[in-house]
Amino acid sequence: MRTFDIIKRKRDGLELGKEEIDFIISGAVSGTIPDYQITAFLMAVYFKGMSAREVRDLTFAIRDSGVHPDFSKVEGLRVDKHSTGGVGDKTSLVVCPIVASLGLKVAKMSGRGLGHTGGTIDKLLSIPGFNVDLNEEDFIEIVNRTGIAIVGQSKGLAPADKVLYALRDVTATIDSLPLIVSSIMGKKLCADDDVIVLDVKCGSGAFMKNIEQAEELATAMVQIGQSAGKKVRALITNMEVPLGQTIGNALEVKEAIDTLKGNGPRDFEEICLVLASHILELAGKGSYESCYDMAKESISSGKALDKFREMIVAQGGKAEVIDNFNLFPQAQYCYEVRADKSGYVEKIDSEAYGLASLTLGAGRNVQEDEIDYSAGIVIHKKSGDKIEQNDVIASLYTSNESALSRAESIVKNATIIGEKQINQPLVLKVIG
Ligand code: URA
Repeated sequence: MRTFDIIKRKRDGLELGKEEIDFIISGAVSGTIPDYQITAFLMAVYFKGMSAREVRDLTFAIRDSGVHPDFSKVEGLRVDKHSTGGVGDKTSLVVCPIVASLGLKVAKMSGRGLGHTGGTIDKLLSIPGFNVDLNEEDFIEIVNRTGIAIVGQSKGLAPADKVLYALRDVTATIDSLPLIVSSIMGKKLCADDDVIVLDVKCGSGAFMKNIEQAEELATAMVQIGQSAGKKVRALITNMEVPLGQTIGNALEVKEAIDTLKGNGPRDFEEICLVLASHILELAGKGSYESCYDMAKESISSGKALDKFREMIVAQGGKAEVIDNFNLFPQAQYCYEVRADKSGYVEKIDSEAYGLASLTLGAGRNVQEDEIDYSAGIVIHKKSGDKIEQNDVIASLYTSNESALSRAESIVKNATIIGEKQINQPLVLKVIG
């Protein structure tokens, strides 16, 4: 088999066989196929697409390209949720404790943030002492004992994705449906969960800018998951609005804790309850409505918060942060962005808010960048809210004073104030 012929066949729009896809993936990981040929292959896929069968074979080849913990040692039904990448998306910090408090097992391997979107691992690292690098034995033991552990993706997990993603990132081939589906599901299926609920973001700042694209992505991911024998459902959710009122690591953890205490923003609590209910329903805990009530009760009774506390303790973190937010890293500067005119907030550009938060130090441009865990944004006015001139739109937090004016101008330009009161739905569609 020759790489040249495989690239040529894909370039000409032909369907590749499983052996050809396996050949490319094993060559990418071993380094026997040079980057320029892998890149040409990726560009050919970008332009010619892939059949459902090819996407499935590519996904499974990525899944099987490395090593990962042996999850068969986890007792009970394993569940997970996965988001395609959002701004201010801290739902895992609430949804996972809810479902774990109701008897399901969450052995979660999460990513770090890159660009304008955040990562669950960075958020958890803002809790002093929290360890996301557990060895396999401790990871499994904690999940079996407490029902929940969240760790970073191990080095050996789906190495093919690391090679492909790095090349896609610099060759304008990120936004290709077969490549996104195989990248996300190739990693997700390594955890071998029984139930997966996918949160597919749609709108500015998401990979999928409109509902048609989001539906195509969601459907493809659900089909792949089902073909691997998993129970999978996807929710297409609105990214035109950042989730909740905070963006930035420690700020988001504090908001998640408030939500687990029953004092979170309504929209954020609602999306968490919806995601948790879908997981519980797929896991056979009852009808959607009864699962929703169970999820709500797990917050009102304090069970979900207790589970979150148990997870922090088990992973070496300072659980006292739950009762004393001063124990989180504190920003040196806080600056209020004020409205230039009165009206309604018609639109918030989530991606721009994510970029402003990155500018303040909450994210990284490249994987090696250091994060300021205290940095970020508290949003005081969201789409649909009435606003008067000089009202505070958002508070900016940072320890880098020189970032404030740039972040302020990004936030101002990203907040459209007009005459109309437009209320955005949270969940646009459920697939599967
Ligand atoms: N997230 C991933 O892990 N891969 C992609 O290709 C896009 C989003």
